[in-house]
Amino acid sequence: MESFLIKGGVPLHGEVAISGSKNAALPIMAATLLTDEPCILRRVPDLSDTRFMVKILESLGATARFEGGTLTIHARKIKGYADYDLVRKMRGSICIAGPLLARLKRARISLPGGCIIGARPINLHLKGFAALGAKIKIEGGYVEASVRKLTGNSVFLGGRAGPTVLGTANVMMAATLGEGVTVIESAACEPEVVDLANFLRAMGANIAGAGSPTITITGVAKLHGAEHEVIPDRIEAATFLIAAGATDGEVTLKGARGDHLRAVIDKLSEAGVAVERRGANLVARRKSRLKPADVTTMPYAGFPTDVQAQMMSLLALAPGISIITERIFESRFMHVSELARLGADIEIEGPSAIVKGGRPLSGAPVMASDLRASAALVIAALAAKGSTQVTRIYHLDRGYEGMDLKLRKLGARIERTEEQGA
Ligand code: EPZ
Repeated sequence: MESFLIKGGVPLHGEVAISGSKNAALPIMAATLLTDEPCILRRVPDLSDTRFMVKILESLGATARFEGGTLTIHARKIKGYADYDLVRKMRGSICIAGPLLARLKRARISLPGGCIIGARPINLHLKGFAALGAKIKIEGGYVEASVRKLTGNSVFLGGRAGPTVLGTANVMMAATLGEGVTVIESAACEPEVVDLANFLRAMGANIAGAGSPTITITGVAKLHGAEHEVIPDRIEAATFLIAAGATDGEVTLKGARGDHLRAVIDKLSEAGVAVERRGANLVARRKSRLKPADVTTMPYAGFPTDVQAQMMSLLALAPGISIITERIFESRFMHVSELARLGADIEIEGPSAIVKGGRPLSGAPVMASDLRASAALVIAALAAKGSTQVTRIYHLDRGYEGMDLKLRKLGARIERTEEQGA
């Protein structure tokens, strides 16, 4: 098993190119199941998650070719049930359900199950499918949805923590080939949902209102192949903006979309990190001493839960009290105890973490628990004095394309090592 060895204390300097978005690419890859014609997707990040999704699409009968960030998928002939173990291993694969239901009128996939950050039920996905007329059966660890004819309908998709991103994506995809008009109320407004809608429209779908809480889909008889370039990854971009501030460096992000990062840029400014636009690039550097800030995660356009952990690493360096409240996932503070190994002073009180910042961090062996927690540990290690070993970095490789290479280009002292005896 691989780990990172990081020698901290070096301010990051230079340019980094932001990759395509994992969370846009996964549902867009699933959407190619909606047509029997080839689709060409550009700027698909080369990650273990996207490679996993390719395996799932191939297990359904599609063919795929992945070269230099361009993915050609042809779902000429497909079957309605995917390999149990494959789907069970990656939550994001739930978004094959909508396209299979739309194209084949049935979908049988393993229940995704919970993950370390929360229970993550799919009741809202199933509520949406049922509203379109599908019969839902849960048996033997599988969820099966079947329908004689998908019929347009209105459905409210708001849940305990607000809208659902992949639930909105799934119901939107299912409705594209339905009869009549579907209206999704309390839809997720994330840029990844908008990117998916743009791809579906390129395939011939009739969709209005993506990016707003009300999405209207008018069903069409058939969809065709299309080409699409995936949006840049706003979570990867936020991670590098925060790393620049945490190491007191200056980093230029190439290809990032500032308009997708407003809540993050606003909070960084409050914490003393300036992010300015220079031409098509974003440049991040400290504008003053780091300052405490309170953060509450919310659905888009609020502060993203996928940046909460990284922001905690920054605020652990800012003298004073910061309160970070996680409103989306019920157990997304796994990084707190590992940050404490590096010397951070953080207490958890219910949905909030109270960060007493300003204590200098020092290197130590730490363990990654999930994708974004691992990014937070890398940022803290870069800012810490001495060496840190971050183990279980397979979590990081799920969502960051060549993070160690990119960081080394910015001057970081980071090595990918094979763990002895692991
Ligand atoms: C997407 O997950 C992202 N994953 C997550 O990113 C991200 O954290 C999340 O949206 C929120 O922004 C992908 O796009 C692949 P949700 P998703 O359904 O769609 C509850 C990362 O680090 N809920 O919007 O699965 C749910 O439990 C990952 O890249 C229900 O109650 O998240 C949660 O509390 C982690 N019932 C809240 O809604 C449902 O049927 C939001 O979840 C569905 C969700």
